[in-house]
Amino acid sequence: MIFITFLSSGGATVTAPEESNLLRISIREKGGIPFKCGGGLCGTCRCRIESGIENTDAIKPKERKHLTEAEFAEGWRMACQTFILRGAVSVSWPPRQAAQPVRAAAPPRTDP
Ligand code: FES
Repeated sequence: MIFITFLSSGGATVTAPEESNLLRISIREKGGIPFKCGGGLCGTCRCRIESGIENTDAIKPKERKHLTEAEFAEGWRMACQTFILRGAVSVSWPPRQAAQPVRAAAPPRTDP
């Protein structure tokens, strides 16, 4: 049995069998990790393993197309390419991009 805590969607912890795919668990348990393709292509499922990185499997070639060595060192993975082998992990992910860019406030008028 493994334990996964979804930090960015409120901190719920779920259980799953060992060697489960992180994105599949997230989808099944409504963990909330963003995704599109599910196949290592789009890069949407990037997430950070905040604890328990030692319980994840080896980094896949597809992940290297979306993440740098520095990001791997910080615990970033692609959820659709990551399997949890044992134990417990906690995972976070960036907020979705805002639909509209935030506009800068207009500069104060300087009438002559
Ligand atoms: S969901 Fe597209 S790369 Fe993982």
